[in-house]
Amino acid sequence: MTATNQYTDSPIAEDVYAGLTREPKRLPARLFYDAAGSALFEEITRLPEYYLTRTEAAILTANAHAICRRAGKNVTLIELAAGSAEKTRLLLAELLRRQLSVVYAPVDVSPAALSAAQATIAHSLPRVRVQPILSELADLAFLAKYGSPRLVLFIGSTIGNLEDDDAITLLRRLATQLGPDDRLLLGNDLVKDVSVLLPAYNDAQGVTARFNRNVLARINRELGGTFDPNEFTHVACWNAARSRIEMHLESRRDQTVHIHDLGLVLEFAAGERIHTENSYKYTRARISTILASAGFELEHTWSDEQGWYAVHLAHLR
Ligand code: AVI
Repeated sequence: MTATNQYTDSPIAEDVYAGLTREPKRLPARLFYDAAGSALFEEITRLPEYYLTRTEAAILTANAHAICRRAGKNVTLIELAAGSAEKTRLLLAELLRRQLSVVYAPVDVSPAALSAAQATIAHSLPRVRVQPILSELADLAFLAKYGSPRLVLFIGSTIGNLEDDDAITLLRRLATQLGPDDRLLLGNDLVKDVSVLLPAYNDAQGVTARFNRNVLARINRELGGTFDPNEFTHVACWNAARSRIEMHLESRRDQTVHIHDLGLVLEFAAGERIHTENSYKYTRARISTILASAGFELEHTWSDEQGWYAVHLAHLR
């Protein structure tokens, strides 16, 4: 029995209790993605400052043929942390040029994102059989349902929201489920000038600030919290030593917040922060080390002209 079970069986209770009763306070980035947060993230992907999505989409468009050729014949596409699957359409359309139908299994923690993915694909590519899987990335047992060759997508730089050890654990678990004919397609952001990195996480329209603050609104909605999200400032900063953008929510003043369903009373000092996200930016060398530590071998890398973003194809070693 945990400290929180006596109050609520909400799926976010453990994370919120553990994160807000430690010092410094933290909330895991996965809490961003309720329906409102997933919709805000979709808005972020269309912002002029957020170069990641359009750069990755351009790399996938330019290289869809080469990627699918290397993936083999009659491929099943499985996408980890699929979100709205907007970019995946490019690869599915290319696969449909090479095979009669495609089974596509998007995996996500957000039912809203999965319905959006299903609607987008079913409407535009009716020969794709979408089989949505509502799951945390921790549980990859569903992979056994699908035969090889499988192309597993982990794109969108979602890896960047994980610590290296967690990324390696996830990829190692994935490696144990895959065979020699399967491929991993990994998309990740690269280290670049801070003048490009920072605005991507602190956009002029304030969408990222709303995305960050939504986690407080979610705690209010789901756990009876009394946060006033406007009493917390969105902070995005570049941590050069760790090669990551960090997002925080900084208390504007001394304030007390109750989370009724957890029986918590939290005191915030003015200037105190809740660390809500890390978004790691990689070098190619670091990515190949991560892949190798997880049992994968890098087969090919595609990038954009400016070298801002990379998409890697890997197979088991
Ligand atoms: C989903 N993930 C890769 C995004 C990122 O860039 O780290 C989440 C995000 N956070 C702020 N803006 C976008």
